Amino acid sequence: MKNATALLTALALLASTAQARTWDAIKQSGTIKIATEGAFPPFNFFVGKKLTGFEVDLGTAIGKQLGLKVEWITQPFDNLLIGLNQDRYDFVIASHGITPERLKAVDFASPHYCTGGAVVSKVGGPKTVADLKGKTVAVQVGTTYLENVQKVAGVGKVSTFPKDTDAQAALMAGRVDVWVGDKFSALEVVKAQKPKLQLGDLLFQEKIGMAVKKGNSSLLKELNSSLATVLSNGVYAKLSGQYFGQDIRCK
Ligand code: ARG
Repeated sequence: MKNATALLTALALLASTAQARTWDAIKQSGTIKIATEGAFPPFNFFVGKKLTGFEVDLGTAIGKQLGLKVEWITQPFDNLLIGLNQDRYDFVIASHGITPERLKAVDFASPHYCTGGAVVSKVGGPKTVADLKGKTVAVQVGTTYLENVQKVAGVGKVSTFPKDTDAQAALMAGRVDVWVGDKFSALEVVKAQKPKLQLGDLLFQEKIGMAVKKGNSSLLKELNSSLATVLSNGVYAKLSGQYFGQDIRCK
């Protein structure tokens, strides 16, 4: 009897951890748990102890639109989708490009911005895709930058870094020839480092979306409808203008 109870408890635990929270469960709890990295300025980053950025403000606006309190969780970029499938939070907003590979593991909301991977180097350094031949390139691990740089014919060494800002630092320190990163992050970094850096070609383009656990269609539907609301009621336009001086929605 004792064993049977223990077995039932274990099974109940397993069942509860194996299930993503549906929209009804989230709504009933009153709080939505959102995960991001917190090291990808200007999208999600820390200023001291405060988590901020375009995606943090957008996620918070979506939470508000849904009528919920928001709880933020930060994880290294490479762990974010794994934690999502372990039900540690309800959705992820961390500049994930919507790729066929990732679509096998998670479901994506409609894109919340459109961007590309850009070549950045010190002035006089590589600018075009052809220039990458034989060059050392820094990228953040687990990203579409890595995937796309590896496809460049003749590229030299590709160095991966846990954080995108580490890859940028490697470029500044002269340890690599190129950093490939987000176009909008690159615009900001090039401006901040003026006149040392230059922005080169776009290596590829991508659509960025929020991710939910595969099959969590009730939550996906709510995210898409609240995203559509903030896209049309001026909230998105205001945030985008604030962070980028332009509207970065997909056109
Ligand atoms: N857009 C790129 C990708 O999909 C980079 C995302 C990096 N995000 C982050 N929070 N560091 O892989």
